[in-house]
Amino acid sequence: MEPEGQKRTTRLGILISGRGSNFLAIANSIREGRLNGVEIAVVISNVADAPGLEKARELGFATAVFISKGRPRAEHDAAVAACLHEHRVDLVCLAGYMRLLSPEFIGAFPYRILNIHPSLLPAFAGLEAQQQAFDYGVKIAGCTVHFVDEHLDHGAIILQRAIPVLDSDDAHSLAARILAEEHIAYSEAIARVVSGEYEIRGRRYVRRQEPSTR
Ligand code: GRF
Repeated sequence: MEPEGQKRTTRLGILISGRGSNFLAIANSIREGRLNGVEIAVVISNVADAPGLEKARELGFATAVFISKGRPRAEHDAAVAACLHEHRVDLVCLAGYMRLLSPEFIGAFPYRILNIHPSLLPAFAGLEAQQQAFDYGVKIAGCTVHFVDEHLDHGAIILQRAIPVLDSDDAHSLAARILAEEHIAYSEAIARVVSGEYEIRGRRYVRRQEPSTR
C-alpha cells in the first residue's frame, strides 16, 4: 500500500508490433489529462521498422527493440521483461503486439498485463477478428480489454465496447469503427486498473466503485 497522499505514478510499458494507434491514443489521453496518475515509461517493439516505434521516438518516449524472429520465445521474453524492469514498469499494455507471451513473462507481471482485442470476446479470438465477425454476420461487434493469461485472448475481461454492424459496412469500415472504440476503451481500462478499485472473482473483474477517469 502506498502511504496516503503519496500515490506514485503508474509507469506503463507498451508493447507494439505495428502502426501503434492504440499506443498513440493512450499517449493522447495522458497528454490531454484524461488519464491521470499514469506515464509511459517505455515503448517496446519486436519489429524494428514498426511505424508505431518511429512515432514513439518522434514524441520523445524511451523505446527499445527486441527482434523476436528466430529467437527462442523464453529468451526473447526474458530480454523484454528485463527492459521493463529496468524502466520500472508497473503495468504492461499490449497494443497490437503480435506475439504470444511465455508463461514466465506472464508470471513476472501477475494481473499486470493488459491486451486489447478487436472483438467481443470470447467470440473471434485470434487474427483478423474484425473480418471473422463480418464474415460470420454478427449484428453487434466491438472490442475487449482484458488481463493476459497463458491462453490466447482469454484472461479476465476488464471492459468491452460494442457497436452495431451496419448493412452498409464492409470489413474495412467495420474495423475502422471498432478501432475508434478501441482508442476510448484502452485508456478507460487502464484507469480502472490503476484505480485498484476492483477484485477478480474467478474470471470476473468486478469493480468496487466508479473510477475517476478524468
Ligand atoms: C488493434 O486492432 C488491436 O485490437 C489488435 O491489434 C490492432 C493494433 O492496432 N490487438 P494498432 O497498432 O494499435 O493501431
